[in-house]
Amino acid sequence: MDWGMKNRLSKIIKPKDGRTVMLAVDHGYFMGPTTGLDHFTDMVNPLIPHADTLMLTRGALRNWVDPNTDVPIVLRVSGGTSILNDDMLHEGQVCSIEDAIRLNVSGVAWSILVGAKYERDTVLGFTEVIDQCEEYGIPMIAVTAVGKDMVRDARYMALASRMAAELGAHIVKTYFVDGFEKVVDSCPVPIVIAGGKKQPEADALKMAHAAIEAGAIGVDMGRNIFQSESPVAMIQAVNAVVHDNHTPQEAFELFNKLKTQ
Ligand code: R5P
Repeated sequence: MDWGMKNRLSKIIKPKDGRTVMLAVDHGYFMGPTTGLDHFTDMVNPLIPHADTLMLTRGALRNWVDPNTDVPIVLRVSGGTSILNDDMLHEGQVCSIEDAIRLNVSGVAWSILVGAKYERDTVLGFTEVIDQCEEYGIPMIAVTAVGKDMVRDARYMALASRMAAELGAHIVKTYFVDGFEKVVDSCPVPIVIAGGKKQPEADALKMAHAAIEAGAIGVDMGRNIFQSESPVAMIQAVNAVVHDNHTPQEAFELFNKLKTQ
């Protein structure tokens, strides 16, 4: 692995403990003005100091993020379908790697739809972009997207995650499921979990903790942070689980304390 690739990976995964809290705020690329992100800067600016990495789209970055920021950026480069489309997540490349480099990103993200009708398109698009990324030392985060009708279990997540890694992903983002150790153990690259739909804060913290216990290196969490009753308190509680080994109970107590401040 070359120096540039290693250096960019060290911006995403913190060398002090090998873990990361990625804040996912890319939802607008297929969901439009998602609850919580309808006024992007009001929500995201107070969260940035607590995020190790910001995952978002080219448009959000250019329009709403101060270029003086020092938060590392992971840029979503796949897209093309909306939540209204039956073929949602049948995605292609929506941003060139040259533009990603111009935007000084630390990594890019791409969704693969394993087991669905358009699996081949999303997977071949993914490997094509990885070849472009390798040329410039840009890490690729594979998002193992799940279609509406697909089962979320350890067997499926292990298959999708292992495929992503064998095809060249540097980090895999997947969903937490029962038996998550199987997913982590069979994947040769670091794994982060997506948050998924909003749950009560205590449950989201339990999930993050269980993922770390099973061997994930962190989270790439969106709605469970920005749709929380107190997003700034929630991202700090998630940080406490990921970086400070808080138990879910300790982290929830921290959340309750911080939300009143
Ligand atoms: C979906 O593919 C998007 O990339 C989101 O960033 C991802 O789902 C993580 O966000 P959430 O924690 O809200 O699921």
